[in-house]
Amino acid sequence: MCGIVGYSGPGNSVGPIIEGLSRLEYRGYDSAGICLKINNELQIIKKEGKLDNLKKLIEEKKPFSHTGIGHTRWATHGEVTTDNAHPHGNEVFAVVHNGIIENASTFKKQLIAEGFHFKSQTDTEVFLVLLTKFYKETQNTLQSISKTFSSLSGNSAFVIIEKSSDKLYCIKRSAPLVVGENKEKREAYVSSDPFALIGFAPRIYFPQDAVICESIVSDQDVNINFYELDLKPSKRFKFQSNAMSMDATTKGPYEHFMLKEIHEQGALINKLAAFYIKNEGRKILEGLKGFTTPEWHITACGTAWHAGIVIKNYFEQINRQRASVDIASEFRYKNPILNKGEISLFISQSGETADTLACQELCKEKGIPSYSIVNVEGSTLFRNSDKNFLIHAGVEIGVASTKAFTLQALTGYLMGRAMEGTLDQPELFSEIQLLSNRIDELCANADSLKEVAEKIYSKKGFIFTGRGKYFPIALEGALKLKEIAYVHAEGYAAGELKHGPIALIDENIVNIAIVGPELLEKTVSNVEEVKARRGKIVIVGPKNLEEIEHLADAYIALDFEGLPNLSPLYVNVALQFLAYHIAKLKGTDIDKPRNLAKSVTVE
Ligand code: M6R
Repeated sequence: MCGIVGYSGPGNSVGPIIEGLSRLEYRGYDSAGICLKINNELQIIKKEGKLDNLKKLIEEKKPFSHTGIGHTRWATHGEVTTDNAHPHGNEVFAVVHNGIIENASTFKKQLIAEGFHFKSQTDTEVFLVLLTKFYKETQNTLQSISKTFSSLSGNSAFVIIEKSSDKLYCIKRSAPLVVGENKEKREAYVSSDPFALIGFAPRIYFPQDAVICESIVSDQDVNINFYELDLKPSKRFKFQSNAMSMDATTKGPYEHFMLKEIHEQGALINKLAAFYIKNEGRKILEGLKGFTTPEWHITACGTAWHAGIVIKNYFEQINRQRASVDIASEFRYKNPILNKGEISLFISQSGETADTLACQELCKEKGIPSYSIVNVEGSTLFRNSDKNFLIHAGVEIGVASTKAFTLQALTGYLMGRAMEGTLDQPELFSEIQLLSNRIDELCANADSLKEVAEKIYSKKGFIFTGRGKYFPIALEGALKLKEIAYVHAEGYAAGELKHGPIALIDENIVNIAIVGPELLEKTVSNVEEVKARRGKIVIVGPKNLEEIEHLADAYIALDFEGLPNLSPLYVNVALQFLAYHIAKLKGTDIDKPRNLAKSVTVE
């Protein structure tokens, strides 16, 4: 989705803005642009398509500017064209915008009737034109921002620069926005994501909704002022030192961020367990001891929804508490039955997924407390939750979610154990350590998964199957494969195959069958049914089980011993590798698959 970066300072703004936009590329976008204040003019350079197109234009012009804003756009209002790309500017202001202005068309009609002209089809330009109109009336930028923002509805973040100064202004409603400063270098920054500011701004501020931020760089200092909409000084912002390391911004020795993130999982699992069982996180989980609710309403999208199904199983099996799991875009419109005493649990890597946020609002309106399992601290979901269970996965750049799934599911498992009051049982910590070791072993032997991928990558379709706790893993395995390898893949409960999907089976279809030690015979008979119809078989099953190995065209042998609860997470990593290698053989854009965005901030 869209990304914003702004800079003001003594250096050339072009470098940090382009670097910041490059870091936000992973979120998905379809055009990019920059506006630079040069010789008291606002000069806009923008281009549809990849950021490289914009970089080429910049290389030709070699501009130098102390103040600028940049944007990567993911189209919502108006087609993907250079005119619709941001920034939008005129003789007074330039604006970049993330989100949607809901009442844009009403204002646009009024403004056109008043004689104003529009150059694009975007809702953003309505903000620009209205801002300019108010400025012409008041000659006061802060007042005009306040009036414009108050007039327009919808969840948005705006960053504004003006011809008459080097200030950076910004304001937002339920959309991510971070303001940064580097006191030593006298630089001010703004972005939609702190990740863009790593290494640039050691001090960052998260303004709350409807707080206007004004960054002023002088010859001596850099100052950030915060105002309420009545222009009184505001304290509604959170300060944080930007502790993220530069390592997060590079692939290291890996060919893709996705591969790096798969490899990070072993270590992150141990870190998360130490945090929640032994260190500061312990008191967060202990608050759940003995906790019961008539029903957990788990809501999420995509991979996070799959993690939700894993967590539902944990809550029901460990705690015998009823849990429902819904896809957020379904839950919000189904008029859900929500009763007092029940709890909503939202799962999201980004904490910015529009449908998940809408469900959170709905639950809040109905008086249902809102808990979240979330990666991004300070995200909208995080801020609006009554309790947060951070997954501490670090930045996840690959659009295909990998480490976030594992840590979401593990966090849910730990929540279940905390409710049960068994966080101190040594078997808990050792199972988690074992999971971490097994994942590390898988990473060390990933070449064997590459060989499996080589055998099947050219096949027409893939059906992932699993029973019980492996069913959500079948769904997740299929999602991962389709999103990065662009092949048709479906996940099914193994016993469901004969109720329809078996009609698809022939020699061009691969059944990736998860055969866990539980219900083994029943799952093996499902494999036999596929084999009898000439389907290709890949079994992900227990090691040293020759009696079923012979059924498979390829056998991925895993050591399920000692992982009674966490084996689904282990199996899932094998499927992540399989998807990765198939995608690599197909030559797709693994980290930024076509048509996908890392965080889906529109409905
Ligand atoms: O940021 P979120 O966890 O809320 O995102 C939810 C989905 O959009 C996300 O999991 C998506 O399905 C991924 N591309 C899956 O790899």
